[in-house]
Amino acid sequence: MSTEATEKKPIDFARGLEGVHVATTAISWIDGQNGVLLYRGIPIEEIAKHSNFEETSYLILYGKLPTKQQLEEFDAALKKNREIPDDLLDVIRKFPKDTHSMHVIRTAISFLGGFDPDAEDNTPEANYEKSIKIIAKFPTVVAAASIIRRGLEVIPPDSSLSMAANFLYMMSGEKPTAEEEKIMDTIMILHIEHGMNASTFSSIVTISTLADIYSAITSAIGTLKGPLHGGANERALRMIKEIGTRDNVRQYVENALANKQKIMGFGHRVYKAYDPRAKILRGYAESLSKSRGDMSGIEIAEEIEKIMIEKVGGKGIFPNVDFYSGLVYSHLNIPMEDFTPIFAMARSVGWCAHVMEYLEQNRIFRPRAVYVGSKDAHYVPIDERK
Ligand SMILES: CC(C)(COP(=O)(O)OP(=O)(O)OC[C@H]1O[C@@H](n2cnc3c(N)ncnc32)[C@H](O)[C@@H]1OP(=O)(O)O)[C@@H](O)C(=O)NCCC(=O)NCCS
Repeated sequence: MSTEATEKKPIDFARGLEGVHVATTAISWIDGQNGVLLYRGIPIEEIAKHSNFEETSYLILYGKLPTKQQLEEFDAALKKNREIPDDLLDVIRKFPKDTHSMHVIRTAISFLGGFDPDAEDNTPEANYEKSIKIIAKFPTVVAAASIIRRGLEVIPPDSSLSMAANFLYMMSGEKPTAEEEKIMDTIMILHIEHGMNASTFSSIVTISTLADIYSAITSAIGTLKGPLHGGANERALRMIKEIGTRDNVRQYVENALANKQKIMGFGHRVYKAYDPRAKILRGYAESLSKSRGDMSGIEIAEEIEKIMIEKVGGKGIFPNVDFYSGLVYSHLNIPMEDFTPIFAMARSVGWCAHVMEYLEQNRIFRPRAVYVGSKDAHYVPIDERK
C-alpha cells in the first residue's frame, strides 16, 4: 500500500469516507436507492406499526424479538434504572439557561460514567448492563435538562408508564393521551438506529481504543449535535417558521438553492429515494396538524417538499428523518431545543448496539490523511520571526 512519504502520484482518498465500509454489522440495513430500512432484517414500516420502543430496543440490542418473558424482564430493568442522581441534577442546574441542551446531555452522560462502578468493564455482560442503564436514564436526562432550562421543577420518572409516555410526562407533568403516546413511541422507534452514520461511527472509533461505553456515547452525542446530522430537525422547523406562509416558499427555496445553501431536513449520503422514516413522520405531522386545527406548518412543509422534489429530486434529494419530526414534536408541545436531544435519547440504543458489536471484531481505527504540507521547513528562533 502506498504512503504519502513514497507516493509520487496523487493519493486517492474518500472525502467524508463516502463508500468506505469500516466494519461488518447485522444491526440494520439501508437500501438507499429504493428507500428501504431494515432493523435486524425487519422492515421499519412493520416495526413502526406493530412494535414499541422497549421491544424494538431489545431487538436492536440482542438481535431478535424478545419472548413475552424476556420483554417483561427487559422492561422491568429499564424501569428500575430510570432515576438519575441528585448530583447530576445539580450539575444540570449549573449550566447557563441559554446553553443548548445538547451540551447539557453530553455532559450528563459523561457524568453518569463517573458514577458507574462498572464503567471500565468492557465484557459483553457488563456492557449490556450499562446499555440498559444508559437507555433508561437518557429520557430522564433529556427531560430534566429541558425542565430546568425552562425554570420549572424536575418531574421524577413514573414507573407505571411506558418509556414514551413517561418521557412526555416528565416533559410536562401531564400524562399523554393514547394517541400522543403512540406517536412519541413511533418517533423514538424511527430514531433508534441507522447504520454507520457519523455519530455511530464516532462511537465505534472511541470504543476501538478500548475506552468505555460512556465515553463512546459521549463522543456520539457530540457528533450528533451538528446541523448536518441530528441538529437538522431543529433547524428544519426554524426554517418553516421563518418562511411564515406557503406563498413565500418558492422564493425562499429558489434563493437558497441559487446560493448553494442547504435546505435542512433534505438530502442523505445513503438515501437517494424518499427516506421511509420521513414518510411515516409526514403522516403523523399531517394527522396531528388536523387534530390540533393548525395546518400552517404542514402546508409550508409540504410546499417545500414539492418544490425541492421539482428542483433537486432528480439528484436524489428528498426529505429525510429530520424534516417532518420537528412539526410532530411541536404539536406535542416539545420545545425546539429538545428535538436533537430526543434524537440522541432514542439513538442511544443503536449506539450501544454498535459499540458492543464492534468490540467483538475490534481493531483500533487509525486511518491516514494525505499530507499536503511542507517538508523542508526549519525552526526559527522567536526573535527572528517576521
Ligand atoms: C445529509 C447531507 C449532510 C449529506 O451530505 P453529502 O452526502 O456529503 O452530500 P453533499 O453535501 O455533497 O450534497 C450533494 C449534492 O446535493 C446537494 N444537496 C444535498 N443536500 C442538500 C440540501 N439539503 N439542500 C440543497 N441541496 C442539497 C449539494 O448541494 C450537492 O450539490 P452539487 O452536487 O450540485 O454540489 C446533506 O444532504 C445535507 O447537508 N443535508 C441537510 C442537513 C440534513 O438534513 N441533515 C440530516 C441528515 S439525516
